Amino acid sequence: MEELKKTLDEVFEKEVIKIVISNKVKKDEKYNKVNISLKENNKNKFYQIEKFTDKQVFHENIKIDEINEKVYEIIDGKYKQMTAWSSSETFDLKISKKGKIFLGKKKNDNSKIITKGHNKEKNYILKEGMIIEPLIDLGVFTKEGKVVNSKYDKYKQINRFIEIIDDEIKKNDYKELTILDFGCGKSYLTFVLYYYFAKIKNINVKMIGLDLKEDVIKKCNEIAKRYNYDNLHFELGDINGFKYNNKVDMVITLHACDTATDYALYNAIKWNSKMIFSVPCCQHEFNAQMKAEELSILTKYGIVQERVAALMTDSVRANLLECAGYKTQLLEFIDIAHSPKNILIRASKANISKEKKEKSLVEVQNLMNTFSFEPTLYNLLSNDNLI
Ligand SMILES: C[S@@+](CC[C@H](N)C(=O)[O-])C[C@H]1O[C@@H](n2cnc3c(N)ncnc32)[C@H](O)[C@@H]1O
Repeated sequence: MEELKKTLDEVFEKEVIKIVISNKVKKDEKYNKVNISLKENNKNKFYQIEKFTDKQVFHENIKIDEINEKVYEIIDGKYKQMTAWSSSETFDLKISKKGKIFLGKKKNDNSKIITKGHNKEKNYILKEGMIIEPLIDLGVFTKEGKVVNSKYDKYKQINRFIEIIDDEIKKNDYKELTILDFGCGKSYLTFVLYYYFAKIKNINVKMIGLDLKEDVIKKCNEIAKRYNYDNLHFELGDINGFKYNNKVDMVITLHACDTATDYALYNAIKWNSKMIFSVPCCQHEFNAQMKAEELSILTKYGIVQERVAALMTDSVRANLLECAGYKTQLLEFIDIAHSPKNILIRASKANISKEKKEKSLVEVQNLMNTFSFEPTLYNLLSNDNLI
């Protein structure tokens, strides 16, 4: 189609940084959407093409000077819409049912949007355009696979959580995994994680989400059933005292409030879970107990006390996990600008030396003595002789 070629020539006169092709002509067209981004490695610039089906993303890299031909090949007769961004202009191309072409052009400073967008999608495992049906029902994605604006922070958190799990999972060839999500709430993470293991990694996964809220558990079970997520179940119950008699490979928590995180960590340790990923929140326990005669400067200002108490609580948890035989790290979960709840505890079962365990325990006890603090996790583990 000569007219389409000419219009694309006009768009590609300048360097285009990002292109989104959408609006399929035929329903059975394999790809729902195609994204193209300008990338740069040490040697040169190139375009990366991402084609989205319902469940997968296919990648292809092409040379800079191939872009015009390639976009023509993708669009011609198959898609009705393309938006392209150069650093100073936004192009909006639309093709009518009769094949008439309209090109809208707007002068914009796109440099910021583009850099943001570029980084935004760079390492994400869960990409816009992937159709994960439960997340549409839960209001995180639109039917077209776009992230709902108000859910963008949650989308980022889930992606980061999965990225950290992905790093750990790659170290072993897991064929099956049993995973417990404590305090699953609306279960955005739980559904995505199930999708990631079952559909992307092809790991035989069994997952249970536990929460105190009856309505949420009912809704999540309905959604899991609706989409045949057969090995994903939700149970009503308290983390404290929760019994599970089979092997557990991984325990996760995302914002399980205050000491709910401690009970989750305790269960994981008791069950000898191979991996633990936990983002705590509302660490009030230490704050409420904290007495600091020598170090009264730390309790003099409410906000300082609160933050110090929260940070120390997570240090104590990390140390106790080490004492219980876990290699443990505290990672930045999410940029603090997006959420102050931004520490993730990552722990994996390992051979921790006796000396290291003892040192970690003494560090915890020193802190307990200094601040008259009695951490829940310490009490639970020492009562069971697990540390
Ligand atoms: C802040 S929400 C987080 C929900 C979800 N993980 C997320 O990040 O979207 C905390 C959830 O933990 C649940 N929860 C708190 N204490 C619990 C306990 N002791 N046992 C089970 N669930 C608990 C609450 O009911 C709530 O749904």
